[in-house]
Amino acid sequence: MKIIMLGAPGAGKGTQAKMIAEKYEIPHVSTGDIFRANIKNGTQLGMEAKQYMDQGLLVPDELTVKILLDRVAKEDCKNGYVLDGFPRTIPQAEVLDKALSELGDKIDYAINVDVPDENIVRRMGGRRACLSCGATYHIEHVPPKTEGICDSCGQELVLRDDDKPETVQNRLNVYHEQTQPLIEFYSKKGVLQTVDGTMDMNDVFEAIVTALS
Ligand code: AP5
Ligand code: MG
Repeated sequence: MKIIMLGAPGAGKGTQAKMIAEKYEIPHVSTGDIFRANIKNGTQLGMEAKQYMDQGLLVPDELTVKILLDRVAKEDCKNGYVLDGFPRTIPQAEVLDKALSELGDKIDYAINVDVPDENIVRRMGGRRACLSCGATYHIEHVPPKTEGICDSCGQELVLRDDDKPETVQNRLNVYHEQTQPLIEFYSKKGVLQTVDGTMDMNDVFEAIVTALS
């Protein structure tokens, strides 16, 4: 099963993608996590991506597409995957489409996690992220067992550089301009499923599982 997660920054794509990956035993592929791991390791790619990410802008398609296509060509993606944060522009979606159709393949579902902008800004300030393993917490909704420490790998949790309120607003603007058109793109292909992302995260997950069955 090949699944795409759509939704504004902070809508809960990463949270839900992790749960989907576990239930359906497919890899969770997040371009944001790949960039953040590269920034943490000080790679050339990380340094380039950081300039855009810190401003809430998209990393250019040329950099992003190659990374994603390399990742989904790996053996563990053979039986499917859940893409989180990709595609984010129409050109990215077209490249993915073309690469898949050359293999006689296609995306099965695009899940749109729908959350209004007002809720987003409130959520982001409370998010804490682990830059080592990609786990995400929320100081109120999903606190870690020990404050500031990742439950899964024991590393320190941080407020992401791009979760400052000014940057969140930029990311929302970029989302509406460049990413939201993908909702229509996948709707036309007949694979779009929209779920209400303002519910409790377990209820959101239940709605997704229903949509996938
Ligand atoms: P990326 O890492 O993809 O960030 P994003 O899309 O902005 O989304 P987030 O990770 O912020 O939010 P999310 O929807 O995953 O929400 P989460 O589950 O964490 O990208 C970062 C940057 O990288 C981009 O700005 C861009 O520069 C670059 N980039 C990445 N991919 C790219 C691409 N394809 N092309 C170009 N550039 C790219 O949830 C948010 C918070 O809410 C958490 O604290 C969570 O615990 C909490 N929460 C989740 N669900 C609920 C719920 N139901 N109720 C209450 N709280 C909840
Ligand atoms: Mg995410």
